[in-house]
Amino acid sequence: MGVLRNPIQYWVWRDPSRRAYRLLRFAEVEADGGRDLARAAELTRDARLRRLYLRHAKDEQRHADIFRGRGTDLLRSLGGGADRAWQPDWLAPGERGLDDVRVEREGDGALLAFLHLSEREAARSFAAYSDAVGADCDTRNVFQHILRDETFHMNYTRRELARVAPRRQGWLLWRARLGRFWKSYLRFAVALGNVFGTIVLTLQYFILLPPFAWAAKRAERREPKGWVTVASATADRGGQY
Ligand SMILES: [Fe+2]
Ligand SMILES: [Fe+2]
Repeated sequence: MGVLRNPIQYWVWRDPSRRAYRLLRFAEVEADGGRDLARAAELTRDARLRRLYLRHAKDEQRHADIFRGRGTDLLRSLGGGADRAWQPDWLAPGERGLDDVRVEREGDGALLAFLHLSEREAARSFAAYSDAVGADCDTRNVFQHILRDETFHMNYTRRELARVAPRRQGWLLWRARLGRFWKSYLRFAVALGNVFGTIVLTLQYFILLPPFAWAAKRAERREPKGWVTVASATADRGGQY
């Protein structure tokens, strides 16, 4: 049973409204990756890589269109019943695409190592999502179609890495792995900081505010009610009116 293999993904993808908005967000990530690859094609001096990067960029743009189309169809089928469902990003962050890779800073070898790991992760994720969407065959077809391209991306980047950096390929892969791990750690640290910030602010609200509210209420009780006549000596300060 697939649900037992990956219960979190099953739960995340079960709600059609959440599914639709998730697909729309995936579309943005894929389009972003496509732009990075188009930039990589501009920068590389290797003609073979330029051709492959351009094909890759086109694939990612097509994936963006497919995700957007399916997300929009789903929203339409829900009519007015679609609300912006809560996305449990801390539990299942979804696609990261190329994770803001700085194409300008990387050489071809480092970029290929990074792309290979990202595409491998994407291929794994899409296989899990296509399993997790349950009876929604149209969304499953979308994932399975895109999965074929991601497998091609995963394989060509590995093959080209071996071609352009035959001696450094192992080191480049390790460095890319460490970079991805560091980014994951930073994301986790930011999420944890947010959780702690919320807890501390909530505690402050419930612990620090009540004494002030109580003191204000007490001061209010001591004040006389209604209009108060001010003594004439203090009222007339010899002003011009
Ligand atoms: Fe893609
Ligand atoms: Fe891809």
